[in-house]
Amino acid sequence: MTGSDGVTRREFVTAVGGAAVGTALAGSSMGAAQAKRRYAIIGTGVRAIGMWGRPVLQQYSDVVEMVGLCDINPLRVEVAKRQMGASCPTFTDFDKMMDTAKPDLLMITTVDGFHSHYIVKALERGIDVMTEKPMVTDEVQCQAVLDAEKKAGRSIIVTFNYRYAPKHQTIKELLMSGAIGKVTSVDFSWYLDTTHGADYFRRWHRLRAKSGSLWVHKASHHFDLINWWLDADPVTVSAFGGLQNYGKSGPFRHTTCRGCPHQSKCSYFWDITRNKDLMDLYVGCESADGYTRDGCVYKEDIDIFDTMNAIVRYSNGVSMSYSVNTFMPIEGYRVAFNGTKGRFEIRDFERQAWDAGTDSEMYLIHNFGKRERIEPKGSNTGGHGGGDTRLRDLIFRKADAPAHMRLPNSRAGATACLTGIAARMSIDEKRPIQVADLVRIT
Ligand SMILES: NC(=O)c1ccc[n+]([C@@H]2O[C@H](COP(=O)([O-])OP(=O)(O)OC[C@H]3O[C@@H](n4cnc5c(N)ncnc54)[C@H](O)[C@@H]3O)[C@@H](O)[C@H]2O)c1
Repeated sequence: MTGSDGVTRREFVTAVGGAAVGTALAGSSMGAAQAKRRYAIIGTGVRAIGMWGRPVLQQYSDVVEMVGLCDINPLRVEVAKRQMGASCPTFTDFDKMMDTAKPDLLMITTVDGFHSHYIVKALERGIDVMTEKPMVTDEVQCQAVLDAEKKAGRSIIVTFNYRYAPKHQTIKELLMSGAIGKVTSVDFSWYLDTTHGADYFRRWHRLRAKSGSLWVHKASHHFDLINWWLDADPVTVSAFGGLQNYGKSGPFRHTTCRGCPHQSKCSYFWDITRNKDLMDLYVGCESADGYTRDGCVYKEDIDIFDTMNAIVRYSNGVSMSYSVNTFMPIEGYRVAFNGTKGRFEIRDFERQAWDAGTDSEMYLIHNFGKRERIEPKGSNTGGHGGGDTRLRDLIFRKADAPAHMRLPNSRAGATACLTGIAARMSIDEKRPIQVADLVRIT
């Protein structure tokens, strides 16, 4: 596998429609008379509203015009429009939206298993695409997306917001500086707590067919960080996984938390009725598609893992031991890079029952030398450690970023997903998987 894993803003703008589009994206400084990007969204759940809807309307309306919102749920698309504060037409038919609203930029925020369907359709129409992670959920979808992009000559941006958290940029830049010499191995453990971790088991994420499992839905974030931090591709993946706490492992079950006879004894009882926005967006729209947002974490149809371990070998010879656990008393991660000249240790604190005093503790430890504390550069305020705001700015407004902060492209989307797809396959087939056997990436 060769090639860059990022597109510069300039490349994206050039690929997406020439000078007029480029100057429109460049923002108000380029002149108010410029045409705005015609922007549409498919899949109008919370992510569409909170990341790609409301903030875009509020902060980028000088460069972007929202021209259409589409969802298969006719009720939810109307609630989403109201919650975003949008005034554009709504659709339940994607082709009709594309024909009528004529967007030149599409954001895909549907359930993961359908991302590839819309990516390919949009590319075939000559539209540039931004997709939420994961770009795809299996290797067949991955090949179809890469082939479609090549054929269309258009570009895909995969919105890996974690890269844009200042603390993650600090890690990237310290590794690039050579402070620990050549990186030889990585220890990486991600902890999802009993609030956030459990939530995946309440929703569509609990089904492989929809999320690709957390190996793809969640771990693709982490695998993208590692690919980017190491500037390397995954080569071989061996993994283990189990469902030890949720699903069939549970002591009792019901359909939803609402009306559950076990509420008083269930530690995972979650009362959606206390959140009006979620009640409107999900419960109020259940009649159209049967999607229950507060599903039981012990449902017997859960077919994903809640406990996952993998060993990954990378193209530059680095090996990584990785784990994700989904019912922890802490939310955050530990990652350590071992190198020929030292070790770089990071402990990230997202949520815990004590005051950690910081959200990220980073230590550079020199071989035969001292330990020094590294302070992340920049503000961590806003969603996903400050990554959401910086990513939106880079896409819609800012000038070129340095090469290592380029917008993630389809290649980055593919290699991140393929690590998880290979891990899932390794568990199913009880053997190490060669990533190059899954998809042709050029
Ligand atoms: N980058 C991040 O940090 C981050 C955070 C949250 C979610 N996400 C991603 O955003 C996406 C949406 O997540 P969410 O939490 O908003 O989910 P959600 O369930 O709230 O919303 C998904 C929407 O897609 C619609 N949908 C389902 N199938 C569809 C289809 N075939 N065609 C069109 N629409 C369809 C649903 O009706 C729903 O409105 C997911 O891909 C998720 O992985 C990314």
